[in-house]
Amino acid sequence: MDQTASLARAAPADPDPAELGRSQELQRLVAEEIGRLGGWMGFDRYMQMALYQPRLGYYAAQPGVLGAWGGSSDFITSPELSPLFAATLARLLAGLGAAQSLHSIVEFGPGSARLACDLLRELAAAGHWIPEQYVLVEVSAAMRERQRQAVQALPAELARRVVWWDELPQRFEGLVLGNEVLDAMPVRLLHRAAAAWVERGVACGDDGALAWSDRPLPAGSRLRASLRQLPAGSVTEWHEAAQGWMRTLAARLQRGVALLFDYGFPAREYDHPQRSAGTLRCHRGHRVHDQPFWQPGLSDITSHVDFSAMADAARDGGLQLLGYTSQARFLLNCGVLDILKERMATADAAAMRLAAGVQMLLGEHEMGELFKVLALGRGVASSGLAGEGDRSAALD
Ligand SMILES: C[S@@+](CC[C@H](N)C(=O)[O-])C[C@H]1O[C@@H](n2cnc3c(N)ncnc32)[C@H](O)[C@@H]1O
Repeated sequence: MDQTASLARAAPADPDPAELGRSQELQRLVAEEIGRLGGWMGFDRYMQMALYQPRLGYYAAQPGVLGAWGGSSDFITSPELSPLFAATLARLLAGLGAAQSLHSIVEFGPGSARLACDLLRELAAAGHWIPEQYVLVEVSAAMRERQRQAVQALPAELARRVVWWDELPQRFEGLVLGNEVLDAMPVRLLHRAAAAWVERGVACGDDGALAWSDRPLPAGSRLRASLRQLPAGSVTEWHEAAQGWMRTLAARLQRGVALLFDYGFPAREYDHPQRSAGTLRCHRGHRVHDQPFWQPGLSDITSHVDFSAMADAARDGGLQLLGYTSQARFLLNCGVLDILKERMATADAAAMRLAAGVQMLLGEHEMGELFKVLALGRGVASSGLAGEGDRSAALD
């Protein structure tokens, strides 16, 4: 995740010998593949390997990287930060599920399964609507195993509702969730050289060290119009994989609502000249750094989301844009402060922790403003899902 505001920028922490061995093995695989590809690899392929290469990639080798502050975690996400994220979402989902006669929740990239478990507990406690099925869709086998352990700790009546999908069915219905999934999808990189945009990829020196290398873009590449705003020398991201994922989701979600939470901007803001260095970031041990080739597989690599591109891809696939707003506005509209008040009244020692968590979720300089919610749907009567403060018009 990106909490540039609250994370220190520093050199990444030294790896232990086991980590070093894994990273060296991954670097060898990357170098071999670059050789097979003729000496150059797109950054998206590098990022795919660094994050998801079986046994060696960041999410494949280290399921403990997500979690609460401290310990072995590298960053913290909204559901891990505060139980009120799930509590607030539960009220919205229960209303939608009951009103629209939907029977499933489908969560992409569920991480530690914290959101899934908290949501199921909240929904069961309220007793208004509980999904017959809570589906988890996860690309990393190691993360899946961590999710399985978390689900086993649920009461049996809730655990039996949780299933994993290996692939998305051609057609499905339900309430779709994704928190910080789009930012974990591989990106291509673009560099504005003096004359034109070129693609920035990865090459390998004789010593095996990885280095940046530019080459012309494939003929017919269609770049977003707002790139015009960026001056010569700029580097930015192209979210081709996330766009493809969104088109697939849109084509297959036959009826339901999708809520995608992540950090990012509409295209015009994304390509503001102040972001001429792009948004690619690496995280290790609650530190942010900007060296994606440092010890491959040992840092998270992430980029901000271009929400205009996501909305366009969703509409291409037939989904309707139901709303777009900041995470703070969304949670406030869904009643987070009422829930906080109710729980502060009963939780004594934990009350201050609850309030501090909500402050992080809503704070303009924390997750409240940088994080956005994109609401999409098909065949449901819930336009204006973002409610007061809807910013859908900014996506065009
Ligand atoms: C930054 S973590 C967020 C985890 C969790 N949602 C949270 O908020 O704590 C990203 C997660 O998405 C998973 N992921 C990445 N791409 C995915 C995809 N295409 N489908 C499903 N999961 C994906 C990663 O393996 C990882 O578990």
